[in-house]
Amino acid sequence: MQEIMKMIQSSAYTTIFTGAGMSTESGLPDFRSKNRGLWTKFNPDELANVVALENNFEEFSEFYQYRLREIDKYQPHEGHLILGQWEKRGIIRGIITQNVDGFHHDAGNQNVMELHGTFRKFYCNRCKREHDREAYLSGNNKCEYCDGPVRPGIVLFGEMLPEDVFYKAEIETRRSDLLIVLGSSLTVTPANMFPMIAKEQGAKLIIVNREDTPMDIYADYIVQDKSIREFLIEVDQELKGRC
Ligand code: APR
Repeated sequence: MQEIMKMIQSSAYTTIFTGAGMSTESGLPDFRSKNRGLWTKFNPDELANVVALENNFEEFSEFYQYRLREIDKYQPHEGHLILGQWEKRGIIRGIITQNVDGFHHDAGNQNVMELHGTFRKFYCNRCKREHDREAYLSGNNKCEYCDGPVRPGIVLFGEMLPEDVFYKAEIETRRSDLLIVLGSSLTVTPANMFPMIAKEQGAKLIIVNREDTPMDIYADYIVQDKSIREFLIEVDQELKGRC
């Protein structure tokens, strides 16, 4: 932990990169943990893609209403709240996240780059007008203006990723002298390129993840022996004890 504390305290620009493992301790399943991930229950090729939106709209809507109800059952855990405090205190500058649960916003973070979109927004896929989240939750999945299909503001497989968000995330990563990965298998491109970008320009890389990742070989430090929530609580206590 001393080495990690040294990296964090000597950093002038720390960015956090989170994946679904950041939210499992809130109760939300991740995607690929062995027999616990979401994709062991549902097949993303059938539902989490733009073809299902166009050709299998009712089942598509049922799947996302299920995911939204699941997300609404849970809330940010102490680790999210710590990251919210750290941004306020200038310990971190921002969060690049693959998560769509909106928990980083709920925990008070301002500079959040949501690479895969967000469940905080819904819109008509035809006229693009915003749609009410509660209405969607209650099963209303048709646009009140043009009767088009309403969908969540998340990026579906087969859709373009939000270029502006990726551009901002790349700028933030290039400014960073420390990138801390929390809970990602780092197997999905192009999101998994950020640890490489950080390393290319000499930043330190810490990976906190229960399982091995393909980027472990580039990490300056790997934490597998404690959960993300435990890690953040421990570092936060160390930081409080030192200032
Ligand atoms: N502490 C530490 N690590 C954890 C914890 C925890 N509490 N919970 C889960 N993990 C680790 C798992 O071991 C796993 O390696 O987090 C990682 C989560 O990886 P994935 O489930 O692959 O999630 P992620 O990397 O975010 O997936 C990327 O894939 O399907 C798409 O769009 C989806 O954004 C998602 C993307």
